Amino acid sequence: MRHFTCLADLGPDGVHAVLDQAIAWKRCPPEAHLAGKILGMVFFNPSLRTRASFEAVMARGGGHAIVLEVGGGVWKLEDRIGAVMDQDRAEHVREAVPVLGRYVDLLAVRTFASCTNDDDDERDPVMRAFADYSTVPVISMESAREHPCQGLADVLTIAETFGETRGLPVTLTWAPHVKPLPKAVPHSFLLTAGAAGCRVRVAHPPGFELHPAVVSEAREFARASGGEVTFTSDQDEALEGSRVVYAKAWGPAAPGPLGPEAVRAFPSWRIEARQLARAASDAIFLHCLPVRRNVEVGDAVLDSPASRVIDEAENRFHVQRMLLDWLAR
Ligand code: CP
Repeated sequence: MRHFTCLADLGPDGVHAVLDQAIAWKRCPPEAHLAGKILGMVFFNPSLRTRASFEAVMARGGGHAIVLEVGGGVWKLEDRIGAVMDQDRAEHVREAVPVLGRYVDLLAVRTFASCTNDDDDERDPVMRAFADYSTVPVISMESAREHPCQGLADVLTIAETFGETRGLPVTLTWAPHVKPLPKAVPHSFLLTAGAAGCRVRVAHPPGFELHPAVVSEAREFARASGGEVTFTSDQDEALEGSRVVYAKAWGPAAPGPLGPEAVRAFPSWRIEARQLARAASDAIFLHCLPVRRNVEVGDAVLDSPASRVIDEAENRFHVQRMLLDWLAR
């Protein structure tokens, strides 16, 4: 059974193939390529871009999407093996997932990280349960470990802007927030930009490390594509001469003395015009959205000509069109 629940399901060669095909289909869109197909979309968490872009892909491709919001008109789902189900989770994924497979041709799942234990989140229990129990292909709409469609849309935006991703210096910088956020987006940018052969520089304050298993995987992907992955706690150093400034908030690697307030402890890391000026003169600014204006990123950056955040969001549609077509075959 073919799934797309993590970037490893594609690998570096697959990343280059998806980017090439997505660019080709932007010029010459396919017609009714998903006719007769039904996508079941299971949301454990809210969304704007992901929900709208997946539904748009199905509608424009001649197919149909069914949206199920877990806990909102749909039974709360249990995923723990051996759980005594005497609380509010009324149905186990062991039944729910194969039942859905009797109705739909593809399943899409969104389930966020717990943000309480990075090792548990890295194991990605809910997404793995869906992949294990499904009788139809499963695609990730973000999970505890990765947001692979977002990573592909990010790198597609870079590829369209600069033509070549191999050897391109790109910077992923931590940004402050009002609450600890999951690491799925920074993980996926690291993995996908590495697989595309970029020279990825990651900057974050001490204590906000990404998961070591994801970092190792990104380094392997980068090695295979001629890229590299480096880390620093000096944001200025990471931004110097970079062609891409990608800002993202994420939570600490482990609970520290500052607790959840740690994410507010470094306000000078907010991306303002000063930071953008350190990057190359033709640098672009990316963020997966939603973004907290003047907390993570200043208005002057989001409203500048360097910002490509709307194109980046559009590219979610283009990579997902490719991926759903591939999974539906
Ligand atoms: N970037 C992204 O996944 O946006 P949503 O959470 O709105 O879907």
